[in-house]
Amino acid sequence: MRILGIESSCDETAASVVADGTRMLSNVVASQTALHEETGGVVPEVAARAHLRALVPVVRKALADAECSWDDIDAIAATAGPGLPGALVIGLNGARGLAYARGIPLIPVDHIEGHVCANWLDAATGPDGAPPELPALALVVSGGHTELLLMREHGQFERLGGTRDDAAGEAFDKVARLLDLPYPGGPPISRLAATAEVRKLRLPRAWLGESDDFSFSGLKTAVLNLVQSEGAPPAAEIAWAFEESVVDVLSKKAVRAAERVGVRSILVAGGVAANRRLRERVIERSPIPVHIPPIVLCTDNAAMIAAAAFRHLDDAVAPESALDIIPTAVRRGRRWA
Ligand code: KG4
Ligand code: ZN
Repeated sequence: MRILGIESSCDETAASVVADGTRMLSNVVASQTALHEETGGVVPEVAARAHLRALVPVVRKALADAECSWDDIDAIAATAGPGLPGALVIGLNGARGLAYARGIPLIPVDHIEGHVCANWLDAATGPDGAPPELPALALVVSGGHTELLLMREHGQFERLGGTRDDAAGEAFDKVARLLDLPYPGGPPISRLAATAEVRKLRLPRAWLGESDDFSFSGLKTAVLNLVQSEGAPPAAEIAWAFEESVVDVLSKKAVRAAERVGVRSILVAGGVAANRRLRERVIERSPIPVHIPPIVLCTDNAAMIAAAAFRHLDDAVAPESALDIIPTAVRRGRRWA
């Protein structure tokens, strides 16, 4: 079964053809990064207009790269939320129009579940690698989310905790601004951190007791105070200490929760899962198998949306149905109880 996935929740317009939820036949991502660099973050209206321009060419390229014609596509999946409303509307209604024209079903997908399902793509497990074993503990860390989820089955998630303020990626982006680094902040902070000559600076870590929640706003304020102080350490040392603090908390709390609830694997996903130190630390600390997608499948993409849709064929609707976007987190509703 071939599903064409479409993703447009934030600042990437993406389309991908995935066979049977695992085999990625194409993966096209048009990033708006350059557009948002000037403003140091995503302006929702600007993002929505850019999605509108990019959608048709991106879908065409996804079909061409997959060497597919429309006749080969069995269903179309699109991100329904969470995300920026104007951005979601373009992708979901674009998908709706295509599904209507082709007379094929439309499958709405939760973006966070999409990130998790990237771990089922062959490109993530490797040709000989086994898919993740369930139940699993999923740590989803992106620009908009920091979630610790217990995944019992596909589509069955329990939210154990999440951020109380900034998302992990948001903290990277905000600290990057404080250090005069470009948006998105994760990659430049990591590059700068790797050049730190002295690695002694220790920034605060919000453990929040036994809770599975996270908090990064205190850390961000600590960086701000440090940057503004007299005799501030070099930016590379601050970047290094910041990255260590975020990675220490994320990796320790994920492994602790996994051990407590007794799962068979840990899944790390979302843009921040592209962070090399985070990948290393979770693997070092975990006594059970850890699955993390290759870097291109950590940041927003549509292959993960098609992969998740394959697990939700029952949610398929006729394109003329009243399906709408769900910009706020779906996880507080039915699916993420
Ligand atoms: O998943 P994603 O592409 O979009 C959202 O759904 O938010 O995540 C983007 C976030 C940004 O905040 C970016 O700074 C962060 O992921 N990110 C990283 C790295 N690469 C991307 N954070 C830390 N280290 C990285 N290497
Ligand atoms: Zn995302």
